[in-house]
Amino acid sequence: MCSIHFLLASSTCFLPLLLPETSAWPYGDDPTFGFLPLPLNSSNFDIQKPYDLPVNERYSFVDCVHRLWVYNSDKPLSPASPTAPRTEIRIRGYDYTSGVWQFEAYGYVPNGTTGVCIMQVFGGGNGHATTLMLRVYNGALTYYRSIVLVAHDIYDRWFRLNVIHDVDERKVTVYIDGELKLETADHGGNSHYFKCGVYAQADDSYYMESQWKDIRVLKKCD
Ligand SMILES: *[C@@H]1O[C@H](CO)[C@@H](O)[C@H](O)[C@H]1NC(C)=O
Ligand SMILES: *[C@@H]1O[C@H](CO)[C@@H](O)[C@H](O)[C@H]1NC(C)=O
Repeated sequence: MCSIHFLLASSTCFLPLLLPETSAWPYGDDPTFGFLPLPLNSSNFDIQKPYDLPVNERYSFVDCVHRLWVYNSDKPLSPASPTAPRTEIRIRGYDYTSGVWQFEAYGYVPNGTTGVCIMQVFGGGNGHATTLMLRVYNGALTYYRSIVLVAHDIYDRWFRLNVIHDVDERKVTVYIDGELKLETADHGGNSHYFKCGVYAQADDSYYMESQWKDIRVLKKCD
């Protein structure tokens, strides 16, 4: 059984209202506080991969770690698709149109993987396909290719990622290792979902890989 983090976020929306005055706030600045984790099982993890290959040639799930890889010479996810090669987990069952949603996971990108999108909030308006792309370029983690969230040292280590999408306020917030790294407007649109993995972008490496564990989808308590 893969462990599930219930350390800081409880499985209900109960908030402790009466804390003794002397006690410290026990939740720190945990971005998941006030959010409810939603049930996830394998049926919520749809693996998109080059259409001509079996899943196990581009994806594995061992010791609770999802490993996804792709080559820049691979085929797209369907014969008709004009998009670049990808192997991605597309979260199913939690497409959303309103409210405040959160994706949490621990990610790992091996040195050498570059020119790649590793996480997306899919869906946007006005010609945008996405509301958020987190990409890796030469050891940096970036918002699209415009804003650097982690300047170097994203390679070869596990990092904690929290992405919050407030659809009603049209706001996207990104935390890395619990630190606020980005607050920006979303791209509109009326239906969204989360994805993570590897999706080739310009200046991609021949081989691209990312790993993910403890993936959670959460929704803000009303
Ligand atoms: C996953 O959960 C859904 C309901 O949330 C259930 O219908 C389905 O049978 C479960 N699938 C697996 C593989 O456990
Ligand atoms: C990545 O690998 C290259 C080539 O082996 C090396 O020069 C570089 O220092 C490595 N970077 C990190 C962050 O380990």
